Amino acid sequence: MKKVMLTGVRPSGNLTLGNYLGAIKNFVDKQKQCKSYIFIADLHAITSPKDPQKLKESVQNCIAMYLACGVDPNKTIVFKQSDVLEHGTMGFIMTFQTKFGELNRMTQFKCKSQVAGKQGVDTGLFVYPTLMVGDILLYNTNVVPVGKDQQQHVELTRDLAERFNKRYGNTFVLPDVYIAPVGNKILNLQNPLEKMNKSDSGDNKGTIFLMEDLNSARKKIMSAKTDSLNKVKFDEENQPGISNLISILAKITDEAIQSIEKRYEGKGYGEFKKEVADKVCELLNKIQTNFNKFNDPDILDGIVKDGAKKATKTAKQTLQKSMRVLGLC
Ligand code: TRP
Repeated sequence: MKKVMLTGVRPSGNLTLGNYLGAIKNFVDKQKQCKSYIFIADLHAITSPKDPQKLKESVQNCIAMYLACGVDPNKTIVFKQSDVLEHGTMGFIMTFQTKFGELNRMTQFKCKSQVAGKQGVDTGLFVYPTLMVGDILLYNTNVVPVGKDQQQHVELTRDLAERFNKRYGNTFVLPDVYIAPVGNKILNLQNPLEKMNKSDSGDNKGTIFLMEDLNSARKKIMSAKTDSLNKVKFDEENQPGISNLISILAKITDEAIQSIEKRYEGKGYGEFKKEVADKVCELLNKIQTNFNKFNDPDILDGIVKDGAKKATKTAKQTLQKSMRVLGLC
């Protein structure tokens, strides 16, 4: 039996090379081996108020982007969370299985509620993890590929599923988190001590966007901050800039880090950066061409409706099973 892999993505425009190499590519590479689901977490997006038109646009944009990056609707069930109504009910049930303290100690909640300060923090932000728990459990998920910041939420899912199974009998599959070993932290090209983020403090000179103009992307790679040691060597502590460029190249081409180091023995940074820039531009070019092909409301609508139909089938079964054991039906 194939393992079930599922991940959810918050709709956001302007995905970066860091998003692609750190998360999207891992999913794309694994989608053949698994029974795979990917959904746009639009219910998670309304934890804080959003402009409705903008939300709609970013959901559409995000789906087109994931397809452009290689998520294949023939191998993966692609859907919108709000199209499968079972998510809301399952999230509600899981909220009622959770202790206040369990949510109160979630790192992401603690950070975000501190930022909210006096204005007060939305309840949505507090119960957000239990909605995510429901998302994962609905599909009997075995593997959840996510970034490190979401690991705690997947661990909460395991804890709650285990508790529920003990209380009511075996109902849910316990999921494992998957964090990719290479490329899980692509760094800012100008400040390789910071992650490559959408909101970059230095005029975005350190961030490459997937929809970026190729010349501009090339310039950013060629002027990436390095060091004066002049060795292409993976040493995150003493050569963070060069190590970051090696990670980028290794992750794009699937070449081993040592093999890259070997090829560049005795060679300078200029030549090395040029290869990184070539490979990044090739990748962006492919993604951008695909994006323009997929970014058509009719095509996207068809894919997402079909995905929702397939997802609903499984989600309904799991929800009914849990309602039965709870005595609700
Ligand atoms: N919370 C995740 C994030 O912020 C998105 C998400 C929602 C998710 N539901 C999920 C991820 C289920 C994995 C599985 O990135």
